[in-house]
Amino acid sequence: MATVYAVGVGPGDPELLTRKAERILRIADVILAPVSNPAEASVALETIREFIDESRQEIIVHQFPMTSDRSRLIPAWQEAAALIAAHAEAGRSVAFVTIGDPLFYSTFIYLLRILREQWPQLLIEIIPGISSINAAASEAALPLVEGDERMVVIPATAGIEQIKTALETYETVVLLKVKPLFPAIVELLRTTGREHATVFVERVGSPRQKVLTDFSEIASHSPDYLSLMIIK
Ligand SMILES: C[S@@+](CC[C@H](N)C(=O)[O-])C[C@H]1O[C@@H](n2cnc3c(N)ncnc32)[C@H](O)[C@@H]1O
Repeated sequence: MATVYAVGVGPGDPELLTRKAERILRIADVILAPVSNPAEASVALETIREFIDESRQEIIVHQFPMTSDRSRLIPAWQEAAALIAAHAEAGRSVAFVTIGDPLFYSTFIYLLRILREQWPQLLIEIIPGISSINAAASEAALPLVEGDERMVVIPATAGIEQIKTALETYETVVLLKVKPLFPAIVELLRTTGREHATVFVERVGSPRQKVLTDFSEIASHSPDYLSLMIIK
């Protein structure tokens, strides 16, 4: 039986991989990379290209649809878990690569649950990665929290009311998955006077990185899926 690795590859910059992640990626027999849209490249796979050898390693790109419809998600998770288990049981080590950290809002969390339930004999090792939040704060040179301050992370998909309450309660609010609710978030920040306390970061660690602090620029921007906001 070979080991299954969940490898956090960081936000998109190959230099932000840990040495352990690089070592595992060089030795794994199979690399499994997630993609939400088959027409687009896997960000995790693009991040690790220079560490893998396609002539020796098997690269599998597996689609996980970007939806909250569990009747479409569960089969995709189940299929990926079965694929991982089949390779590991046949003696091939598998590295499932994930952007940021594998246990932080990652598809790997669902796979881990299925693997533990249905293939409890598998050896699973998780390699942490630098999350997009830490990378974004570094690029903006923005301290996230200090002293007694508290920070909350909210996937904006949780809804505008949750964000409103968080802004009233915590010293730092980090919003992930801002794209679907972006106009409503901008409006809320404007009406609560947070225009000068907001940083918007898109595609951190990639050549397409954008760090915006000017609120009028933020408000007129159309964010892509890999965007977050830090509000102090
Ligand atoms: C499913 S979560 C994945 C989080 C990831 N596991 C991590 O540790 O950063 C996806 C959300 O993370 C944020 N994100 C991930 N990568 C990013 C990047 N390179 N730049 C900006 N935001 C990013 C975005 O808010 C995106 O909608």
